[in-house]
Amino acid sequence: MIRRVKPEIDAKILKEAAEKYLEPYYGNQNKTLEWWLESKHYKQAFVSVIDWWIRWILSLKVRKEIEYLKISTLLVLEDFQWNKIGKELLYFAENFARWNNFSSIKLTVSEEKQEALAFFKKNGFYITDILLGKYKAGINENILFKKL
Ligand SMILES: CC(C)(COP(=O)(O)OP(=O)(O)OC[C@H]1O[C@@H](n2cnc3c(N)ncnc32)[C@H](O)[C@@H]1OP(=O)(O)O)[C@@H](O)C(=O)NCCC(=O)NCCS
Repeated sequence: MIRRVKPEIDAKILKEAAEKYLEPYYGNQNKTLEWWLESKHYKQAFVSVIDWWIRWILSLKVRKEIEYLKISTLLVLEDFQWNKIGKELLYFAENFARWNNFSSIKLTVSEEKQEALAFFKKNGFYITDILLGKYKAGINENILFKKL
């Protein structure tokens, strides 16, 4: 089942995921966690849950007025990786974009996350720009784009 984040059910596991997968690369993730738990306005967060286990987390910045849809976080939890779930997740994100009349998706991936970069390139994204130090001093952040 894919649903929006429910803070009363998901807070603990999302906190653990932010600490495990994001903090090593981007430092303290309290703001990200708050963002996932209180998704509102243009910030929207979803999870996929099977048998009470969260399998993936997706957060989006949705700005219809400027035709801007950005994947902020796309994360398959470790136990579920390499089972085509990332593909399913991307499929959901792309359908969300289409239903909402977006014609493209943007995202950024750190040069330190080569596995995520390989995944997105394999699935039709290409690099449009590279910004030095956007999120972390001295580290390149790749800007990726996919036309739908
Ligand atoms: C990258 C990630 C999304 C891939 O999800 P996944 O469920 O493991 O991938 P899938 O099984 O759906 O793979 C889909 C395709 O991508 C390919 N792929 C997946 N991971 C890959 C990798 N590390 N390198 C190269 N190709 C990869 C698969 O081979 C598959 O190709 P195919 O369709 O030709 O068989 C997942 O591993 C992940 O979330 N990693 C952590 C990333 C992270 O930290 N994100 C936070 C920053 S936003």
